[in-house]
Amino acid sequence: MKKTIAEEAVNRFIKDGMVVGLGTGSTSYFAIMKIGELVSSGYDLTCVATSIQSEKLAKSCGITVMDLDQVGSIDVTIDGADEVDPQMQLIKGLGGALLREKIVAAATIKEVIVVDGNKIVDKLGTTCPLPVEVLPFGHEHTSHALKKLGCEPVLRMAGEVPFITDSGNCIYDCKFEGIDRPYYLEMAINNTTGVVENGLFLNTAYEVLVCDKHGKISAMSEAVNEKLAGKEIRVF
Ligand code: 5RP
Repeated sequence: MKKTIAEEAVNRFIKDGMVVGLGTGSTSYFAIMKIGELVSSGYDLTCVATSIQSEKLAKSCGITVMDLDQVGSIDVTIDGADEVDPQMQLIKGLGGALLREKIVAAATIKEVIVVDGNKIVDKLGTTCPLPVEVLPFGHEHTSHALKKLGCEPVLRMAGEVPFITDSGNCIYDCKFEGIDRPYYLEMAINNTTGVVENGLFLNTAYEVLVCDKHGKISAMSEAVNEKLAGKEIRVF
């Protein structure tokens, strides 16, 4: 499912001459491999990676990788997600790259999300925790403040030691019993001293491509746009 949907996204959205954002995770892996094939076949692509891991993989495939500040905007980024709700709102960051993923997404014209059907949920925060990246300094104090927002924050570990992100921070995986008001929560988390960024990606996805277990591919934007027709803003 991951390979099918990643390759579909590359085929649909990546054109010769583009600046492309490379996501992180096991689904993005297949997108990067496919982009490598396009480069080998003669496509002129400039890419920006959302993690050191993806940068290494891309370079090993012969892809030109630049720093974000060396490019203007990014035409298309293909990235995975951990949960997607029916309005194409996302939780990301179980792979630990949420901060760079969010910065790259903010610089991207078309953020294309690729997931298997298991990632689709009715409400965010029901099948996975919300990753929150925090500064290592005083991180336990920060976690106490996060707990007051109604979650159970668990420090992510890499064996015996805390997991450290590419930007040198820690991650707390915050278990909510479903997130009722994602916009409010995003604001409240980002207003918490010590927090660097959180894994809610709201109004970020231009398209979400989904592959079900039978290999059937669907694009979520059509259904979302139909629901939103006539409304000027999203209600939250
Ligand atoms: C990394 C992410 C990934 O996109 C997310 O975890 C999905 O990963 P996978 O494709 O392996 O399921 O947000 O920070």
